[in-house]
Amino acid sequence: MTTTACPLLDDARSITDKALDTYLPSADTAPVRLHQAMRHAVLAGGKRVRPALVLGACQAVDGDPKACIPAMAAVEFLHTYTLVHDDLPAMDDDDLRRGKPTVHVAFDEATAILTGDALQTLAFTCLSQLPAAAATACVHVLGTASGSIGVVGGQQDDLDSEQARGGACDDPAATLERIHRRKTAALIRAACEMGAICGGAGKAHRSALAEFGEHVGLAFQIIDDLLDVSADASTLGKTPGKDASVGKLTWMSVHGEAAANTAAGEHTAAAYACLERFGEPATPLRSLAAMLLGRES
Ligand code: IPE
Ligand code: IPE
Ligand code: MG
Ligand code: MG
Ligand code: MG
Repeated sequence: MTTTACPLLDDARSITDKALDTYLPSADTAPVRLHQAMRHAVLAGGKRVRPALVLGACQAVDGDPKACIPAMAAVEFLHTYTLVHDDLPAMDDDDLRRGKPTVHVAFDEATAILTGDALQTLAFTCLSQLPAAAATACVHVLGTASGSIGVVGGQQDDLDSEQARGGACDDPAATLERIHRRKTAALIRAACEMGAICGGAGKAHRSALAEFGEHVGLAFQIIDDLLDVSADASTLGKTPGKDASVGKLTWMSVHGEAAANTAAGEHTAAAYACLERFGEPATPLRSLAAMLLGRES
């Protein structure tokens, strides 16, 4: 296993990888092609940032780490579905993901669509393993974050803004912020909120952790846009330069490269401020936010 300078991420990776393997049907379960494709997408690697945020938020409210395992798996299944669909020819048309061929390349396009569908529903099946009150709350949080006013809506706006699709917009800065908030920050926010719920947080702690996640998520997508310009394929595990090639509305195209690190730093500072009330138990979350700011992939 690769280790990082972030113990929370390392812990989350080993817990999540075991849980994902357990929840996924085996590769010889019929239909074999679909289950192989699901396992290809999920077990291909991935930083497991969102499960780490679930775990860190649960620990920040002194929750039992075991209590949040179904939510850690759920957010990673949901996230992986969004990646599989994001890479489809009809969307970003990418061949490389997590250092491996994308699902539509390794299998075929129809299988990739069905893989995404199945991973999305599996996410909610995982949440059904939680105690009833936490399950209900988490289904609401994850469903809202991933739907048409969350990730799916952000993906629609992202595609509509592409110059290659004739996109033109009157207020690029506001549109970009809405895209980042929805396509990326919504799910990262949901990860933190689900960790708080599983850890038994009260209302104030739950909303402070959600707000923390929102800022981490906005910083995360600014860095993602920056890496598309500055990183190489072997470090990134995906093909760089794709955003500019279709004229996507990105942090780079709207604000330029120079401001990216400053803006991501400001969101990270705002994220830290949300954790003030938590003291020592939130130290792992603070370290994760710092590590994400300096990430290279
Ligand atoms: C990529 O997310 C998609 C974005 C929201 C920018 P990650 O960078 O977390 O991808 P993996 O899970 O590590 O592959
Ligand atoms: C990420 O947007 C949003 C989702 C996958 C939901 P990108 O299209 O920038 O993500 P990458 O760069 O392909 O990972
Ligand atoms: Mg995209
Ligand atoms: Mg993409
Ligand atoms: Mg990107």
